[in-house]
Amino acid sequence: MPFERREGSLYVDGVALTDIAKSVGTPAYVYSWASIRQRFEELDAALADSNHQICYAVKACSSMTILARLAELGAGFDIVSGGELERVLAAGGTPGAIVFSGVGKSVEEIDLALKVGIRCFNVESASELRRIEERAAILSRRAPISIRVNPNVDPKTHPYIATGLKTVKFGVPAEVALELYREAHAAEHLDVVGIDCHIGSQINDVAPFAEALDALLALVDQLDNEKISLRHIDIGGGFGVTYQNEARLDTRAIGTMAKERLASRALDLIVEPGRSLVADAGILLTRVEYLKPRIAEDAKSFAVVDAAMNDLIRPALYQAFHDIQPAEQVDDSVRDSWDIVGPVCESGDFLGHGRVLALAEGQLLAIFSAGAYGFVQSSNYNTRPRACEVIVDDGSFAVMRPRESIAEMLRSEVIV
Ligand code: LLP
Repeated sequence: MPFERREGSLYVDGVALTDIAKSVGTPAYVYSWASIRQRFEELDAALADSNHQICYAVKACSSMTILARLAELGAGFDIVSGGELERVLAAGGTPGAIVFSGVGKSVEEIDLALKVGIRCFNVESASELRRIEERAAILSRRAPISIRVNPNVDPKTHPYIATGLKTVKFGVPAEVALELYREAHAAEHLDVVGIDCHIGSQINDVAPFAEALDALLALVDQLDNEKISLRHIDIGGGFGVTYQNEARLDTRAIGTMAKERLASRALDLIVEPGRSLVADAGILLTRVEYLKPRIAEDAKSFAVVDAAMNDLIRPALYQAFHDIQPAEQVDDSVRDSWDIVGPVCESGDFLGHGRVLALAEGQLLAIFSAGAYGFVQSSNYNTRPRACEVIVDDGSFAVMRPRESIAEMLRSEVIV
């Protein structure tokens, strides 16, 4: 854990959160670089027995500082838009280590990816395959492709983040994939290089990954019989973390599982982790604006803080649990069961329900495990500027993304 308590105050890698809040204000996202690096190195070691490439899923936390530092550690990237591609390139990522996922790649996005020379397009439909071929022909290139197989595996996670069931929009069933491989193999401007899947997110058990990999390997065998040979197999991301009391997925078990299945094959392994590298490295710092203690026995007590659903939407959107703790000790705090809510005008604007805590107005709070899908999913709802992002490294901190200003929010708008 990068966060530790000393005499009631929370510290991240030796830096007091109160000092950070004093300097940058709240709400603020704060990340421990040491924690991200450690998670990356742990996973890299877990996969050491397979020839592998970690393609960090940029969507989980796309701050350029983090992308640049991960690139330095040898990470590749899994992107899902032209914007993410531009971000990775601006951060110094290598095009040849980028895989491009997503069901709706536009012509412009495909062209850019072809021009810079990414490692692979993870193709999600017949129409997309044909569009990529057409664009590659126009640009006189050969597009490296993988078909995203939907293995119909139940990852037992929140329905919004289960992506490998036949009822969702992602990938194609194995039968369709086989047809698409035959078509791609015969196409002049397509280069068949791999196969991939991504079955969901926040999965804490290795079994669904094994089931998905087995389904992919059955298809690899069929392709072998037809002399269509692949260079890599990409099992996606989805490695689960601990938000409350779930057991974090042991990535060493993923390494062992993959090694057993890939040992006799000449296939590189690609993984696309997002959450597991960054979730627990980040917190959202917020300050209590007002306390509204219960007025009747059957009413609720509210702590209104300065962060809201526009800053961290996971509780409102997925009923996600994020631990919330005071980052400093203050006098005259009141112990109660508090609903921690934001200033946004919706009853769905909450960060935590029924948290038994001693709170006071003006107190600094830390919302944990906010490093993944936190800032990146923030919005300007209620015309609220997006929070700043701070990185802590080696005992000091720096702002890697300044707080958005109201002027910036209004700048490009016109009154018609
Ligand atoms: N690869 C693909 C193709 C993906 O769609 C995703 C995530 C990943 C990799 C990375 O998955 P991870 O390792 O982070 O679980 N906003 C949601 C999570 C959405 C995940 C979408 N896809 C949340 O806040 O829980």
